[in-house]
Amino acid sequence: MLVLGIESSCDETAAAVVKDGRKVLSNIISSQIDIHTLYGGVVPEIASRKHIERINYVIEEALSKAGTTLSEIDVISVTYGPGLVGALLVGVNAAKAIAYAAKKPLVGVHHITGHIAANYIEHENLKPPFLCLVVSGGHTHLVQVDGYNEFKIIGRTHDDAAGEAFDKVARAIGLGYPGGPKIDKLAKEGNPYAIEFPRAKIDGHEFDFSFSGLKSAVLNYLNTCEMKNIEINTADIAASFQQAVIDVLVSRALRAANQLSNGQIAVAGGVAANSSLRASMQESCNKNGIKLYYPSPVYCTDNAAMIGVQGYYIYMAGERSGLDLNAVPNLAFGL
Ligand code: KG4
Ligand code: ZN
Repeated sequence: MLVLGIESSCDETAAAVVKDGRKVLSNIISSQIDIHTLYGGVVPEIASRKHIERINYVIEEALSKAGTTLSEIDVISVTYGPGLVGALLVGVNAAKAIAYAAKKPLVGVHHITGHIAANYIEHENLKPPFLCLVVSGGHTHLVQVDGYNEFKIIGRTHDDAAGEAFDKVARAIGLGYPGGPKIDKLAKEGNPYAIEFPRAKIDGHEFDFSFSGLKSAVLNYLNTCEMKNIEINTADIAASFQQAVIDVLVSRALRAANQLSNGQIAVAGGVAANSSLRASMQESCNKNGIKLYYPSPVYCTDNAAMIGVQGYYIYMAGERSGLDLNAVPNLAFGL
């Protein structure tokens, strides 16, 4: 069974061909990062235009790299939310046009479930139930994955997403967009315990997160240094901020896994590419006898292979989308 996955929810135009739900035959990603870097973040209007320019080439390349043609594809799967509405519409309309013209079934995929499904690509033994820590630019969730299409949110952020905090702090210390990978790299040269930044807890919500206080603490620290004419060490700030985020993510995930008697945790989303988070999760999981899964970095950040994988499981469950499928920018998720 061949699934063509299409993803255009933010600043990556992507298409992939996935065989039997788990084997990636091609994974083409056309990134717009260079353009958005000029503006310090994603400009929605530019993102939509670039998706339109690139989507057809990206799909053609995905088919040709996979050594297949549209006629051999069994299912078209596409991200229909959440994300930037203009950006989503490009992928959704391309998928609908192909499904209609080639008479193929269409399935709409929730972007976050795609991130979770990225874990199936390289871990053939991974099967639900498992706990998933989803950490992306727009979401920070602890999700109990009870089945391939059954998700229960047990923890969530009350304000900023983890990736958003990385991007904002990176901007404040002059690293530019996208912040996550740049902080990851710079933090290796800094001391993670040089500056004590807060680790927020939320009363009565033991699995929830909050990162806006941490972001403000970094900004306050920078202001104080400026006022007192103290020279700042950006590597120490990056390392100390990153450590604060990691401590909170790891402790919540481990507490949830222990309480819910989950023997396995997966990590997903762009921030799951963070080298220190991966190392820290691995160390804690080893200590607690929990099996840890994470995707290769290319499957952590936005890609269409993960949409092909989740599309396969949605299709196998008998679900189909009609040609009235629409982009839903704030698409809800889980229970
Ligand atoms: O999953 P993703 O590609 O897009 C969304 O669905 O949001 O995640 C993008 C986010 C950005 O905030 C980016 O800064 C962050 O993931 N990110 C990282 C790393 N690579 C990407 N954060 C920390 N360390 C990284 N290595
Ligand atoms: Zn994403």
